[in-house]
Amino acid sequence: MAPMSTRLEGKVAIVTGGASGIGAATAKLFVEHGAKVIIADVQDELGHSLCKSLGANTPIHYVHCDVTCDSDVENVVDVAVSKYGSLDIMFNNAGISGDPNRFIATSNNDAFKRVFDVNVYGAFLGAKHAARVMIRAKRGVILFTSSVASVVGGETTHAYAASKSAVVGLMKNLCVELGEHGIRVNCVCPGAVPTPMLNNALNMNNNQTQHLLSKVAVLKASILEVDDIARAALYLCSDDAKFVSGVNLVLDGGYSTTNMSFISALNSHTTNNNHAY
Ligand SMILES: NC(=O)c1ccc[n+]([C@@H]2O[C@H](COP(=O)([O-])OP(=O)(O)OC[C@H]3O[C@@H](n4cnc5c(N)ncnc54)[C@H](O)[C@@H]3O)[C@@H](O)[C@H]2O)c1
Repeated sequence: MAPMSTRLEGKVAIVTGGASGIGAATAKLFVEHGAKVIIADVQDELGHSLCKSLGANTPIHYVHCDVTCDSDVENVVDVAVSKYGSLDIMFNNAGISGDPNRFIATSNNDAFKRVFDVNVYGAFLGAKHAARVMIRAKRGVILFTSSVASVVGGETTHAYAASKSAVVGLMKNLCVELGEHGIRVNCVCPGAVPTPMLNNALNMNNNQTQHLLSKVAVLKASILEVDDIARAALYLCSDDAKFVSGVNLVLDGGYSTTNMSFISALNSHTTNNNHAY
């Protein structure tokens, strides 16, 4: 493994949705590991203040970029190249959870399309404009943030689950096309982790979200935090993962491998009927 401080030395990275949550944690970690980072987001104040908090000499820069706008995404890639000379890492992380209504019959059509616009079309545009630069350079890493909703069904809205499954499909297809050009393409696939997006969706504060997640976690004694996702992103974007491509790397402490519904039903049947199995 490369020494910690040099894992991304000299690399140039764009992090979409980098003003908050997983993106902000990743942008900071990338900088710590020697990368020059562009944060692309629509939360201008938050993005600027994150850059400012890291100090004037830190190579991190905020660019307003709505990932659903082709010219915004084209611009942020151009800024990376003109300001820092190349684009080595494109982390398509921006996402929204959308309308919380989980029932198909009453789902709002525009809300469904909006989730696809940000989570899928936005990721597609990020990959498209990054590929234009990376194909010429014959190297690069494209990383997406999918979700455990791409692996298990029933726990999020249809729009969100379908959008994250689509992101995984896009990642796999791109991995085949872009492999020929030396470009690796992967997804980091987080389980539920407290961020403004999840807290707002649950209408809870950070502590309440954390408490709820700890109760349902399969892996006890530790909790999933944004820094854990950032470290996985760092691995996938560094040369430590030089032959890793086409992977949806799940970070959920085993949650998605678990289905205890039969045992739960059996236990309650046993209790109700008062005989042991
Ligand atoms: N928090 C979780 O439990 C969880 C789990 C799995 C996957 N994810 C995914 O992680 C990613 C990051 O989310 P987060 O949890 O850190 O939430 P977050 O709300 O903290 O961060 C998301 C960021 O994306 C930005 N964004 C939204 N729409 C945008 C647009 N059109 N253009 C540019 N930026 C835009 C937001 O401004 C925000 O800064 C998302 O793709 C989300 O779906 C989150």
